[in-house]
Amino acid sequence: MYANVKVTVLVDNYAAEGFEAEHGLAFWIEVVDGDGSIVKTILFDTGQSGHVLERNAEKCGIDLATADCLVLSHGHYDHTGGLKVVVNKKPTIKVYGHSKLDIERYSIKDKANPRAIDLPLEIQSVWKQLKERRQIEYTDDSVMLCDRIGITGFVKRETEYEDVGGPFYLDNKAQHDDLIEDDQSLWIRTNHGLVIVAGCSHAGIINTITQVKQVTNEERVHAVIGGFHLVNANEERMSKTIRSLRGIKILKLAACHCTGDEALMHLSKAFPENYVEVQAGRSFSF
Ligand SMILES: [Fe+2]
Ligand SMILES: [Fe+2]
Repeated sequence: MYANVKVTVLVDNYAAEGFEAEHGLAFWIEVVDGDGSIVKTILFDTGQSGHVLERNAEKCGIDLATADCLVLSHGHYDHTGGLKVVVNKKPTIKVYGHSKLDIERYSIKDKANPRAIDLPLEIQSVWKQLKERRQIEYTDDSVMLCDRIGITGFVKRETEYEDVGGPFYLDNKAQHDDLIEDDQSLWIRTNHGLVIVAGCSHAGIINTITQVKQVTNEERVHAVIGGFHLVNANEERMSKTIRSLRGIKILKLAACHCTGDEALMHLSKAFPENYVEVQAGRSFSF
């Protein structure tokens, strides 16, 4: 069994002193075996601009070229914007992502002023190159990276109180809802339970955790880190999410990025013993 998982936050909406913040997410994940050796090094998402990822990684002493692979949680610009930087550093890198990751998509508040939130143009062409070079492994269904490390693929939407978390559409006229089917999370089974790494949890954080528990047949959830996308959550969703999280009994709750300040406050109050404050530049051993 793996001893622990070290997660270094390379991009987040908040940053520790001396590091840069941006609206986006990227984690450097090292899975450590019982004898202290590193089994796998995974880059999870790439942030928005690319240069924040690059500079924060450098300050952490992390060489992005040493990643075994890149896992992309979904196709939003704030998770994929640094793809070019990563591919420049390691042209042969293997990338895991959903086949619908590169679709057109918009955020449209009040049905006006559509904002494109899909892969930026430059990143579209990098994605195309990766496709041509057959460097992408599609994760529409769950995929194992190796023994005890997996990617959820499509997460079933089962709770009645969770939704994608915003005014997301496939067209700029707000006629077709974007269900963000490409949203997926990474999980690692350690000897003290599961470590779950989420991007934005557009499938719902409870749906995500439930699916990981089901596929792994593991009840113990040691840590959950990532965006919970509760930024637009109403009171009902917030309280039902907290109630469900209580039932799951998570030891370390490291919500960040698109979770939203108000939701972070609710979570920190509800789980004072378990709440972990995430900032770019910080590392956690789970
Ligand atoms: Fe996001
Ligand atoms: Fe997102």
